[in-house]
Amino acid sequence: MALIVEKTSSGREYKVKDMSQADFGRLELELAEVEMPGLMSCRSEFGPSQPFKGARITGSLHMTIQTAVLIETLTSLGAEVRWCSCNIFSTQDHAAAAIARDSAAVFAWKGETLQEYWWCTERALDWGPGGGPDMIVDDGGDATLLIHEGVKAEEEFEKSGKIPDPTSTDNVEFQIVLGIIRDGLKEDPKKYHKMRIDWLEFPRRRLRELRGCIRCKLMGVCCSLLSMLMTLSLRARLLLFCGYGDVGKGCASAMKQAGARVIVTEIDPICALQALMEGIPVQTLEDVVSEADIFVTTTGNKDIIMVDHMRKMKNNAIVCNIGHFDNEIDMQGLETFPGIIVLAEGRLMNLGCATGHPSFVMSCSFTNQVIAQLELWNERTTGKYEKKVYVLPKHLDEKVAALHLGKLGAKLTKLTQSSLRTSASQLRDPTSLHPTGTK
Ligand SMILES: NC(=O)c1ccc[n+]([C@@H]2O[C@H](COP(=O)([O-])OP(=O)(O)OC[C@H]3O[C@@H](n4cnc5c(N)ncnc54)[C@H](O)[C@@H]3O)[C@@H](O)[C@H]2O)c1
Repeated sequence: MALIVEKTSSGREYKVKDMSQADFGRLELELAEVEMPGLMSCRSEFGPSQPFKGARITGSLHMTIQTAVLIETLTSLGAEVRWCSCNIFSTQDHAAAAIARDSAAVFAWKGETLQEYWWCTERALDWGPGGGPDMIVDDGGDATLLIHEGVKAEEEFEKSGKIPDPTSTDNVEFQIVLGIIRDGLKEDPKKYHKMRIDWLEFPRRRLRELRGCIRCKLMGVCCSLLSMLMTLSLRARLLLFCGYGDVGKGCASAMKQAGARVIVTEIDPICALQALMEGIPVQTLEDVVSEADIFVTTTGNKDIIMVDHMRKMKNNAIVCNIGHFDNEIDMQGLETFPGIIVLAEGRLMNLGCATGHPSFVMSCSFTNQVIAQLELWNERTTGKYEKKVYVLPKHLDEKVAALHLGKLGAKLTKLTQSSLRTSASQLRDPTSLHPTGTK
């Protein structure tokens, strides 16, 4: 694909696979909206006051139909949005086309090369000479990584005149990142400084301030993995899950119900005990590597299944990842060893080989995103939030859950004053995000 930015008739930039799919995308978007009550409530509750007016939001997050509903929620609250995917395989081209035509600048298509992927990330961060985004929705952290590496290279260039050298690293992807930063440096040696988050360090220089970066995290219902693996004959197959956290638990129990035999590996004694209480054996990878038919990594850590493990696997064993986005499986090592089937090149297979989570599940996650962004944006000049990682307070989780109950026909019981005892909920700080570790 020629890497040339295109423009809509209204002048908005984009690069997608096929703009003629926009009507199809719109049709599916309208269906998804019905399944995403949290986001639609945000539109009706906050839309009229346009709280994001003046906010520039960059997103690096799977460009799916559900993400399209998130993007149009942000724009309907007044934001200007530029978007790319955080996975070379996860874009739904009809969703990208509908958003590019109707709502926001999109740079994403299914099956990007790594070069194309980083070009798209750079485009999503490029808001022109006026600087960068005010906020980033960053699933995987690549947009943030590009800014950090860019700032580092610009500082070095200012100090010593040195430009980044892609040949200085063996990591093929990082070579591309360094190449992009090197080329950017020639155009504007302060490009990434203009995007920098750091208003505490640079208050007088009036640098454009990046207000915050929000990491998308979804609690473990990997339904697409379920539907995908259901099509394989699972009965009596031995599945090994590396990690029994939120994602691992949901998937392992779904696979068990589908008739598979399931084993997990764990490093955490509590998670291991939880698996055992569910009747799932806990072993080490080394112990069962030659017996399992399908291996699924869900740990969030790296280098979980290496080529030495693959050498001991059955011929045509299937290996896939639904944990950290691309480095739980040793893909470089695999090149030296055929005989294993790896799905989605070791990237999130539920997004690479299927269409991600259902709209209703994503609505819960994305409504949290919108509320967190509103909080950051509203408090941008008050100093309420320091440079720390914050997690959403429970009362916001409760609000999001409440917005989704009606759709499922549930009605909550109301606690009366007389039946009320002092509860944990009275002790919480109801007003703010919590710094991690202090909750
Ligand atoms: N595929 C998707 O759509 C999707 C959705 C949500 C989250 N995620 C990703 O999945 C990953 C896990 O998320 P989570 O919420 O389940 O996290 P979690 O912390 O709840 O679970 C991870 C589990 O893996 C275990 N673990 C860590 N290293 C291990 C190792 N080397 N061997 C065995 N077990 C190990 C931990 O003890 C923990 O129990 C994250 O990277 C997250 O971003 C993917």
